[in-house]
Amino acid sequence: MSRIALVTGGTRGIGAAISMALKEAGYTVAANYAGNDEAAAKFTAETGIKTFKWSVADYDACAAGIAQVEAELGPVDVLVNNAGITRDAPFHKMTREQWSQVMDTNLSGVFNMTHPIWPGMRDRKFGRIVNISSINGQKGQFGQVNYSAAKAGDIGFTKALAQEGARAGITVNVICPGYIATEMVMAVPEKVRESIISTIPVGRLGEPEDIARCVVFLASDAASFITGSTITANGGQYLA
Ligand code: CAA
Repeated sequence: MSRIALVTGGTRGIGAAISMALKEAGYTVAANYAGNDEAAAKFTAETGIKTFKWSVADYDACAAGIAQVEAELGPVDVLVNNAGITRDAPFHKMTREQWSQVMDTNLSGVFNMTHPIWPGMRDRKFGRIVNISSINGQKGQFGQVNYSAAKAGDIGFTKALAQEGARAGITVNVICPGYIATEMVMAVPEKVRESIISTIPVGRLGEPEDIARCVVFLASDAASFITGSTITANGGQYLA
């Protein structure tokens, strides 16, 4: 029987590539999404991957959504915490709402998803948690105090939880993508984006598949000795 993988924010951008790559690798995949019904329906039509709607920022919705996935597909073996948002603004203009929205989704969302799934992984003595952080959680980014703080938090979360999961056969790792050609990056003003690309040694934005391949590896049995690690995939833009 194939393993079950749940990917948050799994119908668009990097998450969609992760969902498809895991399916291609033989997993039964559930793709969670928060709001864009049209994109989710299109994604299912094109890939045959089931989608499930809830906000990772809502703990009770996560617990209920996970229960639904497990009832329909079986226990979750692989959790990919990919869902994330930006609310960029220089700090002096940043509102409390912009701070809270990003923290609630990008950091608390990882707690909200992992916490209900964790006891089952411990009982079954197997699990793979892959968190998607960001280069900007490693180096900081002008205009992203909220996002950089949350993404740095995801790295600390990973390192701590990896130690708790190790004896239970659960690995917890984090990937820090650089600037990847997705809607999120395309929303950055063009001039700013061009100046960012000029700082990437490989001379281009990454592709979502560059990140998806890392996830497939970390989810595999071949990666059982790798836990608590931070994988950077950023075209050489920041050498952590
Ligand atoms: N370093 C220093 N100064 C900078 C700067 C930088 N990186 N970026 C902008 N500035 C300066 C500008 O030069 C300008 O200065 P002057 O006023 O002296 O000309 C000032 O900041 C701009 O101030 P504004 O009040 O006009 O700023 P704004 O309200 O228009 O907001 C911004 C600007 C939102 C920060 C905008 O620059 C921006 O979107 N930057 C990109 C942030 C970014 O990289 N986001 C990543 C999104 S993708 C993602 O998050 C995925 C991932 O994981 C990589």
